[in-house]
Amino acid sequence: TTIYLQDYKPFGWIIDDVHLTFRLHPTATRVISRIRFRPDYDVTDRPFFLHGEDLKHISAKVDGHDIELRHVDGGIEADVPHAPFNWEAEVEINPEANTALEGLYRSNSMYCTQCEAEGFRKITWYPDRPDVMAQFTVRIESTAEHTPVMLSNGNGLFYQQDQTQPGAPNVSIYQDPWPKPAYLFALVAGDLVAHEDRFATMSGKDVSLAIWVRPGDEHKCAFGMEALKKSMKWDEDVYGREYDLDEFNIVAVDDFNMGAMENKGLNIFNSSCVLASPETSTDGNFERIEAIIAHEYFHNWTGNRITCRDWFQLCLKEGLTVYRDQQFTADMRSAPVARISNVLALRARQFPEDQGPLSHPVRPESFQEINNFYTATVYEKGAEVIGMLKTLVGDANYSKALDLYFERHDGDAATIEDWLQVFEDATGRDLGQFKRWYSQSGTPKVTVSEAWSEDGTLTLTFRQETAPTPGQEQKEPQVIPVNVGLLNPNGDEVMETRTLELTEAEQSFSFSGHSARPVPSILRGFSAPVILEQNMDNARRAFLLAHDTDPFNRWEAGRMLSRDALMSAIIDGAAINSDYLDGLKAVLRDDTLDPAYRALMLGQPTQSELAGLLHQAGHTPDPSRIHTASEAMRDAKATALADLLPTLYHDNQVSGTFSPEAEPAGKRALANAALALISRGDGGTLAAEQYDQADNMTQQLAALSCLLDAGTGAQQLAAFENQWSQDRLVMDKWFSLQIIHANPEDVVETTRRLTHHMDFDWKNPNRFRAVMGALQMHHAGFHHEGGDAYELLADWLIRLDPVNPQTTARMCTAFQTWRRYDAPRQEMISAQLDRIAAQEGLSGDASEMISRIRGA
Ligand code: ARG
Ligand code: ZN
Repeated sequence: TTIYLQDYKPFGWIIDDVHLTFRLHPTATRVISRIRFRPDYDVTDRPFFLHGEDLKHISAKVDGHDIELRHVDGGIEADVPHAPFNWEAEVEINPEANTALEGLYRSNSMYCTQCEAEGFRKITWYPDRPDVMAQFTVRIESTAEHTPVMLSNGNGLFYQQDQTQPGAPNVSIYQDPWPKPAYLFALVAGDLVAHEDRFATMSGKDVSLAIWVRPGDEHKCAFGMEALKKSMKWDEDVYGREYDLDEFNIVAVDDFNMGAMENKGLNIFNSSCVLASPETSTDGNFERIEAIIAHEYFHNWTGNRITCRDWFQLCLKEGLTVYRDQQFTADMRSAPVARISNVLALRARQFPEDQGPLSHPVRPESFQEINNFYTATVYEKGAEVIGMLKTLVGDANYSKALDLYFERHDGDAATIEDWLQVFEDATGRDLGQFKRWYSQSGTPKVTVSEAWSEDGTLTLTFRQETAPTPGQEQKEPQVIPVNVGLLNPNGDEVMETRTLELTEAEQSFSFSGHSARPVPSILRGFSAPVILEQNMDNARRAFLLAHDTDPFNRWEAGRMLSRDALMSAIIDGAAINSDYLDGLKAVLRDDTLDPAYRALMLGQPTQSELAGLLHQAGHTPDPSRIHTASEAMRDAKATALADLLPTLYHDNQVSGTFSPEAEPAGKRALANAALALISRGDGGTLAAEQYDQADNMTQQLAALSCLLDAGTGAQQLAAFENQWSQDRLVMDKWFSLQIIHANPEDVVETTRRLTHHMDFDWKNPNRFRAVMGALQMHHAGFHHEGGDAYELLADWLIRLDPVNPQTTARMCTAFQTWRRYDAPRQEMISAQLDRIAAQEGLSGDASEMISRIRGA
């Protein structure tokens, strides 16, 4: 069934408070709910419907009397008084059997919950919708040897542990004073240990902080804790937002469908997104962990205190919270490096989504399964929309609008209309047209042309156009902020960045008073999530690569050079041109540039990005040619930079105690990028040395990657397995790495072999993704002729679906780009999509994804 935004109806009942009692048992947990309901007299139609799924009903009472329930699709109905009443129900659930990891489940003998978006209905009868907010009190009962630690949302009120006799019950009670929707409910119980700390808020309140982990993981908590404290401070300093409970708990769990979850006062994390140590985590892991901890913490205000009216408004909390975590990372680390990384991720994940069959607006208007809409579009494009809004209104107005948002909507379940209204009221600006960013899907293409007149005027003419997307044939012009600066022919900036506002299909802007024709630098900082088409020759690009004062566009100039060189190599078999290599050399030599930034400069477009660009340009991408050209580009760099690489490698070695901070991490990134190129020529000698000496995962993994690429890493690969066989998170890397670095023709065989490994625990989402995610990310391997990879992935999706529909549905996106490829590949993929769709009992999650991808 499809649900539509336009069909929204309020619930009809108000909940004053909720009391839950859990009697934990691995296969038969009892949940007793006591809920105080009263009619919402503003709502005329008040059917009494409560969600519920997979619940074994025990009893239900209204004001102490048994009541008859009518079991209907997705829940129950009952005839209740149209007056305030007390509801009391008891149900039984089976956490052990819950492999979908939604609702209350048991993972490694630890109980935990995931309720967003619609998991609470698997715990008890309840109006499981975000606009129903209530205060929760939770009592958890269990046996002490079973679950010595029992946590829920809010503040711990009471804890009793009877150690005098085995089997005596353990009780803990939590109370959350802040009204919240059911999706923010959480419960954790198990044998856990805490890494504790404290934080004094800006008004002087003392908050106890804890990261709860399984015994043995205590040494991996310190970094996460520092990140949490930095996040708390940053939200006070930058947004004026203070924490609002006496305690803040984070729990790490091994089996988790997503990255993490912002449950009020009790954030639950995929262990891969919180546990870190220098020996086991790469710099990239540290950076990601810091960002995710910040993200979940920032949700406390943007998500929890102000939540969403319905799931169509998901971007209200996610777009804004991603935007906030990106700001945080920019402040903690290097802002240009952070911006480039965000754009790389946007182009890698959001652009293909927005330009294929799964394209949907930042605020979708219909869905079958909301879990399928936790997408790059809602999250990352949603964040870009906030960034554009800030660019358009300016920093001061943005702050004013945000203050008003928190003041006006604290405690609300709000909408995108509410959000935009706040900006209109704070700034007086009409955002009617801007709102199209929320309703119109697809990536706008902006084409720019230049005219120079001898009176000293440069005119830029912009045309915007968005291709039709599923369900949206006609597109209207959007408000596109284009940041532009001008450089004179000597490379000096003659006009600082200013924002041009495109609002029409075609529009011109003139800049006069120039004695010589200036060079424009357009879309600085990637000020809008668009495809910019600019007719620019290599000389101009090389000029911008050498001189642009905007670090993003300077990087982008190099990117365009390498991109075009790759495209000509793929299409015409052309050799890699020297403009790019010369420009790159100059940038790499410039010691005033941040090593992390130079490391990004050494990167090149991914093979799947190139496939997308070829498709856009009207060519059918040939995965094997793309692979060959990408390797040729690496060889060309290795040759052209041969003199420079050893210096880059040696000058950027970091000695002393490992620190995951941006500066040493940037040096390691540059040194390891140099190592990757050096290894193409030395057969892996230097990499083997680094492998032997490495005392941290960044160095160890980078060296092993180079060895695998050089085809000489067998011994180290075995040693690595031996060293880390007890560490699940490191073993995930071991699994992925072998696939990522396999030759295209060996990818399927390598993957198949790994699925027979005794540690291929495919029901663990991290392990499944480590293997199947790597398979789909190896462009040339996944699309290798013959289609074996398509079949292998489909086999595993079919196997996983009955166990874990959410993770299955998510991985179906591997096929979203299928229409880019040649007819034989399209036929092979289409056959696999049909085969998946034909499975009896296929989940709603997977079937929605398959039918959207097929375009049915
Ligand atoms: N709200 C979480 C976050 O952004 C993501 C939860 C997604 N859960 C899901 N079942 N789709 O941090
Ligand atoms: Zn989020």
